[in-house]
Amino acid sequence: MTPEQAKQLVAEAAIEYLEWDWVIGVGTGSTANLFIDELAKIKGRIEGAVASSEASAERLQSHGIKVFELDQVGDLPIYVDGADESTKHRHLVKGGGAALTREKIVAAASDKFICIADDSKLVDVLGAFPLPIEVIPMAKSYVARQLVKLGGNPVLRDGVVTDNGNMIIDVHGMKIENPVETERNINQIAGVVTNGLFAQRGADVLLLGGDDGITKIES
Ligand code: 5RP
Repeated sequence: MTPEQAKQLVAEAAIEYLEWDWVIGVGTGSTANLFIDELAKIKGRIEGAVASSEASAERLQSHGIKVFELDQVGDLPIYVDGADESTKHRHLVKGGGAALTREKIVAAASDKFICIADDSKLVDVLGAFPLPIEVIPMAKSYVARQLVKLGGNPVLRDGVVTDNGNMIIDVHGMKIENPVETERNINQIAGVVTNGLFAQRGADVLLLGGDDGITKIES
């Protein structure tokens, strides 16, 4: 099975978690895009969606799915999104698509976070995928120096401006043995908006697609 087929499998499976008339949280990236396309097939069942990026909002609207601001709807019953890496504890690295801050906000405001990914994303230790960090532009050099002190190799993502008007630093070479602590420590650096570790609020359900079908990991 190709990664694309595996992503399609879990995108379809995530639809099963939705209930009538919900406004749902929708993530960003190629797996989330497949989910949005599946959502289009059952759009009469939901009231609409809150998107974690401008790109996802546009895709939802192109399918005729109503997009709400988070402020309009309050807490959400469910959030569906992909990941760049996950452990079996459902701690994630996200932000490969530079949408990590809005993703973290929508995940925080959701009762249940369903993470969908192909099974190549499952790792023993996070950090092989460079950890994305959204930074306020004027702080980028300062933040980079602090990240070096934490043992990382920070690289500014060339030409990328986030939906919030900020920059992304990708931190290479970190073996993240304690994701909760690392998430907290990096977020304490002045100038960091947030980092791509989703450990304090990880996924509630992880659906992994692969040759054996779908593997479900949940608490
Ligand atoms: C975007 C993300 C995505 O969820 C992550 O990059 C996974 O993307 P894909 O589904 O394309 O593999 O965090 O900011």
